[in-house]
Amino acid sequence: MSLLAFDDRDGQIWMNGQLKPWRDCNTHILTHGLHYGSAVFEGNRSYGGKVFKLEEHTERLFASAALMDMKIPFSQQEINEACNRVLEANDIVDGYLRPVAWRGSEMMAVSAQNTKIHVAIAAWSWPAYFKSEAISLGWAKYRRPSPESAPVHAKAAGLYMICTLSKHACEKEGFDDALMLDFRGQVAEATGANVFFVKDGELHTPIADCFLNGITRRTVISLARDLGITVNERVIMPEDLADMQECFLVGTAVEVKPVARVGDYHFQVGDISNQLVDAYSKLVRA
Ligand SMILES: Cc1ncc(COP(=O)(O)O)c(C=O)c1O
Repeated sequence: MSLLAFDDRDGQIWMNGQLKPWRDCNTHILTHGLHYGSAVFEGNRSYGGKVFKLEEHTERLFASAALMDMKIPFSQQEINEACNRVLEANDIVDGYLRPVAWRGSEMMAVSAQNTKIHVAIAAWSWPAYFKSEAISLGWAKYRRPSPESAPVHAKAAGLYMICTLSKHACEKEGFDDALMLDFRGQVAEATGANVFFVKDGELHTPIADCFLNGITRRTVISLARDLGITVNERVIMPEDLADMQECFLVGTAVEVKPVARVGDYHFQVGDISNQLVDAYSKLVRA
C-alpha cells in the first residue's frame, strides 16, 4: 500500500485546460461523477519520457465518453498535448498517466444533461505493478455484465465497482488478483488486464465481446503473429484451463505478466510467455 496518499503529493495536474498545483486539484463533494459513476478514464504508461500508444488511449477516452453520453470539451490533439505537458511538468520519465473526465456539480440527480464535463490528467512515476515474477489469480465473485446490461466497451468508472470487490475478495484469500467470468460463464478478463493462455505452442484468448479489447491485448496479438505464434480468439470455459500450459495477463499497467496459478489450476512460466514479455518490453522502449 502506498504510504503517500494521492491527494498529498507535490507536482502539477492538468485540469480543464491548465496546469495547476497538485493539491489544488479538488472537486466539490456534490459532483455527479462521484455519486452516479458518470466518469470515464484512461491509464497510459510512459517509457523514456514518451507515452506508449498515446493516440490510441486518447481515442478510447473519447469513445468511452461518447458511450457515456458525455462530450469532452477538448480535441484529441489538445488532450495528447496536455498528456505530454503533464509528463514534462512533473519530470516523469517512466511513469503512469491518468486522464479522467467526469460530470460536474450543476445537477445532482439521475438526469444530468446540463452538467459540465471536466477533464484532468495526473501522472506519477510508477514501476512494475506486480513485483513477483509470476502472480496468482482467484476466481472473481462477480461476472462481467452483458452488452445489454452496461456499456461494456467503455472504460467507465462504474464498471470498476465489480473489479474492486472481486479483487478485494481474492486478495483476502492470498491471491494477487481475480479472474472474472462473463455473464455466460465464459472466462473474460482480470480486474484490470486481459488474459492469454498457451496450449501446445499456440495462444488462446477470450473474444473481447463484453469487456475491453485492451490496447496491450491488441499489441500482444500482433507481436505474437510477428513471432509466428498462432493466436486463437475463442470461447474459453473455466474447465478448459486444465489443458493450458501457460497463462499471462496483459494491460498497460501490468504490461505482460506471467500467471502461475488460477484457483486450483497451475501453469509454468514457459517459453511463449517469456518471448512475449521480452518482445513487449522492447517495443514500449523502442
Ligand atoms: C478491466 C480492464 N481490462 C483490460 C485492460 C487492458 O487494457 P489496456 O491494455 O488498453 O490497458 C484494462 C486496463 O485498462 C482494464 O482496466
